[in-house]
Parts: sequence; structure tokens; C-alpha cells
Amino acid sequence: MNIFSGSASKKLAGKIAKDLNLELSPVEIFVFPDGEKRIRIQENVLGKDCIIVQSASTPPDENYMELFIMIDALKRSGAKSIKVLIPYLGYQRQDHIFRSGEAVSLEVIAEILAGVGMTELFSFDMHSPKIPDIFTVPVKHLSALPIFAEKIKKDFNLSEIVLVSPDMGGIRRIKEVSEMLGNIPFATIEKNRDLGNGEINNSGLNGDVRGKIAVIIDDMISTGQTMVEAAELLLENGAAKVFVFATHAVFARDAGKLLQHSRIERVVASDTIDVPAHNQFPKLEVLSISDTAATALKN
Ligand code: R5P
Repeated sequence: MNIFSGSASKKLAGKIAKDLNLELSPVEIFVFPDGEKRIRIQENVLGKDCIIVQSASTPPDENYMELFIMIDALKRSGAKSIKVLIPYLGYQRQDHIFRSGEAVSLEVIAEILAGVGMTELFSFDMHSPKIPDIFTVPVKHLSALPIFAEKIKKDFNLSEIVLVSPDMGGIRRIKEVSEMLGNIPFATIEKNRDLGNGEINNSGLNGDVRGKIAVIIDDMISTGQTMVEAAELLLENGAAKVFVFATHAVFARDAGKLLQHSRIERVVASDTIDVPAHNQFPKLEVLSISDTAATALKN
């Protein structure tokens, strides 16, 4: 088996390779002056099972394009199978039409990936459980939630906390974590987002958070607005402290600064996205999903 890394996921791919007792296989990624990339697989992969690790994090289009070309290069070099781990599946929030005239962008991505030769997809905490149905190849939907549940068990007294979903779309997720922790209580926030300007308006809180440590769990943090607004609402409603867990540290715009200067105590994320130095901040703690990924990839 050979494992290759795209330029967005070198750290994580290195950890997964180590867990699989493999070395990362060499691939040359040459960038032309105009930004186009030339990919060359520098290993004999004829008849071999291959894995590529590449997150579709910022900049998503560039990282996807690089991935498409890597898959093509492996296919043309005679790889027997091409498993692709996209720890953070970019464009996943565009998995259906919200308003007439829109594209289903994730379907476009799925068609290209299958078209160029991906034989199986692995990804973490996809925005909706229906996303795998969009793909024509087998999909393994992995999750960082068990890792978060272990961390919560270790760091908190479970009788003092309440889990919180920052929007109604996250109810399935929060119920799963509650079950993992012995059915501890949870609350949900009614979030409304203006599709035009992205502004958030929280219209309600279901559940009692008074005197409790609120632990918000979400699939991703992009601008950080959802988490910061949710934390304010919880504190206004009597929560003692607010902690935040999210699988994907997308951290768009000034998310790092916003979260660091908020009233959130700590932000725990996974390494599905390699957080660049300019987006790191003292309140951030990153847990690795490499074991989960390696176990899934070797089966
Ligand atoms: C939305 O449904 C997602 O689960 C996240 O809550 C959202 O993408 C976070 O975005 P932001 O950090 O920009 O508020």
C-alpha cells in the first residue's frame, strides 16, 4: 500500500502513515509561475492500492484541483485502487438547492472525484448524514465525536455540564454525544442565518443551562460567529462557563481573533484541517483523528 499527501494535509498524512507503519510516498508538486500545478508520482504504483490524504480546506478550489490531478496521475500510473481521505470535505454545505437558480456544488465535486478515478472516499463529520448518497463510489463517514466524548469525560464532571447544539441541524450530533456520555442533558439553540449576508440571529434556546458548564458541539467553525453568538446566549441564560468543540477548524476571516477575545473558555478542534500559524490562538486545543483514519483506511 502507498500513501500520498496533498499539500494541504502533510502533517496529518505523516501521522496516518506512521500509524500504518508506512512512509509517505514521494510526489512532486511543481507550481508554474501562473499558479497551475504539475503533479508527478515518483514511485512505482503499478497494481498497488493507494491512499491520498488531502483536506479541501482554504483555499478549497486549489486544494481540490490538486487532488483531482493527483488521482489522475495515480490512475495513469496503473494504481489498482485509489482511496481518498478528504478529512474536511469542502463544499459540503452546498449539498442541495437552497434557493432557485443555485448549483448543487457538492454534486459537481462528487462527479469529478469519481470521474478522475477515486475508488473510495473517507471523510469526517460530514454536514449531513445524507451526503454519502451523493457519491457513486463507496463512502466511509468517520467521526471525531468519540474522541470529543472521551475528552469531555476526562476534563469535566459530567453532572456539571450540559451539551449544546448551536443550531437545530446539529440535534443528531448532540444526541449521539449525549448517548456516548450516558445520556447527559442537552440543549439546542434556534439559529437563523440570513442566506444573503450570512448574519446570524439566535431566536431561542430549548433546555435549561442555568448554573451549568455549557459544552457546545458543532461540525465546523468557519467565521466563528455561530459559536460566539451561541456562547453569549448561553451566558445570558445563566450558564456558568462555555466550552466549544468542533471537528473542522475552518477558521475563515478573523475567526481565531474573534474566538480568542470571546467569553468562550476553550476551543477544542480536530486536525482534519491543518491550522496555519496565523490562525492559531492560545485558547485553541487540537486533538488528532489520525488513529481513527488509519484504522478505517487499513480495513
Ligand atoms: C452550519 O450549519 C454549521 O454547522 C456551522 O454551524 C457553521 O458553518 C459555522 O459557521 P460560522 O463559524 O461562520 O458561524
